[in-house]
Amino acid sequence: MKLAVNQMGLKGEINIPSDKSISHRSIMFGAIANGTTTIKNFLRGDDCLSTLKAFQDLGVKIEDDGDIITVHGTGFSGLKAAENAINVGNSGTTIRLITGILAGTTFTTELFGDSSIAKRPMNRVLLPINQMGAECSGHDDTEFPPLTIKGTNHLQPIRYEMPVASAQVKSAILFAALQANGESVIIEKEKTRDHTEDMIRQFGGEITVSGKEIRINGPQQLSGQAVNVPGDISSAAFFLVAGLIIENSRIVLNNVGLNPTRTGILDVIEQMGGNLTIEETGDKENKAGKLTVETSALHGIEISGEIIPRLIDELPIIALLATQAQGTTVIRNAEELKVKETNRIDAVATELNKMGASIEPTEDGLIIHGKTTLHGATVTSYGDHRIGMMLQIAALLVKDGSVELEKSEAISVSYPTFFEDLSKLYQ
Ligand code: S3P
Repeated sequence: MKLAVNQMGLKGEINIPSDKSISHRSIMFGAIANGTTTIKNFLRGDDCLSTLKAFQDLGVKIEDDGDIITVHGTGFSGLKAAENAINVGNSGTTIRLITGILAGTTFTTELFGDSSIAKRPMNRVLLPINQMGAECSGHDDTEFPPLTIKGTNHLQPIRYEMPVASAQVKSAILFAALQANGESVIIEKEKTRDHTEDMIRQFGGEITVSGKEIRINGPQQLSGQAVNVPGDISSAAFFLVAGLIIENSRIVLNNVGLNPTRTGILDVIEQMGGNLTIEETGDKENKAGKLTVETSALHGIEISGEIIPRLIDELPIIALLATQAQGTTVIRNAEELKVKETNRIDAVATELNKMGASIEPTEDGLIIHGKTTLHGATVTSYGDHRIGMMLQIAALLVKDGSVELEKSEAISVSYPTFFEDLSKLYQ
């Protein structure tokens, strides 16, 4: 599709769509809890709809009246074998987390997805879950989907030092640990998003977190709750950056979830000299806020270490931000970007360089030389929603030429109304 270019200013307010990570988990917790769960502000993007459909395939009754989603929980033991293989689409969160849930069933499930899912590494989940007693494998002796998950009702607890910083892996182990007999201990490599831990507590379960060490006893029974999903800071990120780099802009973003394990991008914006104000609106348990950004003079910084998991999904749009900052920005310790929906290190460098940026890909990140003027080009999302949205924001800077985006349909994975919301800000 032809992207909007050359915006002279973005002004207005946006209600950010609901959080993808929390929406997935609200269906999962609703299904494995006993009793009814209601979900307000569920994200109806392709990925979360894959999770919803997957649990319907496992025999869970889930209704959507267009406003509230109602999940009639079956408890872990009430899940039923799916008639056919379950299709997770493009969703890494669905396939990895559901593996931990299926680990404790007494049946076998096949999981498959699209061509991107077929390349995502799964040993990170399969190895610990098999150590707990399930029998999971990829196809043809590989770790890659389609996966076969053979559960057991004799899951053993685990002590696991995580080799990667991954909330998906941690969550899969937690779901299995909730069904195991005894205490499991997980030690994180770096602290990652903690929505699963929060929701275990919210659904009446017990979990102890001390720094990077998590302790959880099994088996536990959870009970259905009312969930209200806040806005997704990972979706807000595109407008935060747009407001900072497009001349003459001021954008207000309402109801953005501010869980501290997700707010690395706000720290980066402040360190780069961005004009950002945060007005907290949520309560202590569910931090949320109204964020306002204005066009800013920015400078390059180094981004590495413990902050990386707190902004992992925002790195493509942060790379664009850095192309508009004076000086060099260095992103390190972000090798996980290579195994996301696409290789995001290569995708960001290749596509933004086509538009005139100066970005060097490295083994574990990017070196971005700013400030550069971007021009028209034909670019691709590689089927990755976040690369697609980042390229649309980049196109807004283009004064010379037009930008054609291939595979733009991927954006509906996390933000079906992205183009509509953006167009509300045009002057
Ligand atoms: C997610 C965890 C992250 C993130 C993904 C969502 C989650 O993945 O990139 O978009 O909801 O747990 P990893 O666990 O692979 O880092």
